[in-house]
Amino acid sequence: MHLTDYLTEKKQRINQQLEMLVRDYTVPGRLQDSMLYSIHAGGKRLRPILLMATAQAFRVPVEKVMGVASALEMVHTYSLIHDDLPAMDDDDLRRGKPTNHKRFDEATAILAGDALLTLSSQVITEDAALSDAERVFLVRELTKASGARGMVEGQMQDMLSEGTQVSLETLENIHRNKTGQLLRFSILAGTYLGGASERVMEEMTEMAEALGLLFQIQDDILDITGDSEVIGKPAGSDVGNHKSTYPQLLGLEGAIAQKDKYVHKAQQALKNAGVEGTTLSELIHYLSTRDH
Ligand code: IPE
Ligand code: IPE
Ligand code: MG
Ligand code: MG
Ligand code: MG
Repeated sequence: MHLTDYLTEKKQRINQQLEMLVRDYTVPGRLQDSMLYSIHAGGKRLRPILLMATAQAFRVPVEKVMGVASALEMVHTYSLIHDDLPAMDDDDLRRGKPTNHKRFDEATAILAGDALLTLSSQVITEDAALSDAERVFLVRELTKASGARGMVEGQMQDMLSEGTQVSLETLENIHRNKTGQLLRFSILAGTYLGGASERVMEEMTEMAEALGLLFQIQDDILDITGDSEVIGKPAGSDVGNHKSTYPQLLGLEGAIAQKDKYVHKAQQALKNAGVEGTTLSELIHYLSTRDH
């Protein structure tokens, strides 16, 4: 199947599941409207798709991972709602639509984020497709990836480094946490459910870490080279906020070279894990060359 068809099909599937879960677990009203607004605003659904593609590579039936894939997208969507708040990046456009706090208000946006985050753990712990041991593993790894040693810590460092000149090492660390950890989870979850050996888990973790970095480098590049209409969020937001980014530190060419280094690393690790001929390989390429 062509990658674009693959992406469309998987996206539809995840969208259906997300809608159903959010409706099932909430009551009609403003909070539900606000949660559904950001869920419906679209998004590429790359983290669930990576999870599904990894599961497929390790022969796990896709039905088994739909709950955890949805939970992961809930965490991601919450992180974007909060990332856009005036106290953070102060952006007005997300996924081609007004940001949640613009459409509703700040308090509602904060609460919709809170609700999506907490719902993610509930969905996994109540997922009938998973064993108790699987539920515990996945909730633990997802909360670790999202929290004070993961995405939230990355966001804190991102905020603290605004207007300062950080080292490449520090920048890499910020990217690893704020973006890398959730992407890493998508790969880790699929590999784990496939019952992979420890050696294969390690290779896939390496692949996931490279993928997380190349993903955020491309995000930083698109902030400069992208068109707001295409990326669905304001171009030049990082520059306006004096963010520490790869292009800011290394220049555009340097950032591209760094991204290519991680593409190579990710493809190599995939090969070492023995799943190089799968959709994952195409996804690495796609994520590094995406225009939105
Ligand atoms: C944007 O993520 C935020 C980052 C972590 C860089 P995506 O580019 O995956 O955003 P959506 O989900 O498609 O809107
Ligand atoms: C935010 O990174 C990553 C998150 C944890 C949400 P950015 O601030 O660069 O994400 P965009 O560019 O607003 O999507
Ligand atoms: Mg940000
Ligand atoms: Mg932002
Ligand atoms: Mg960005």
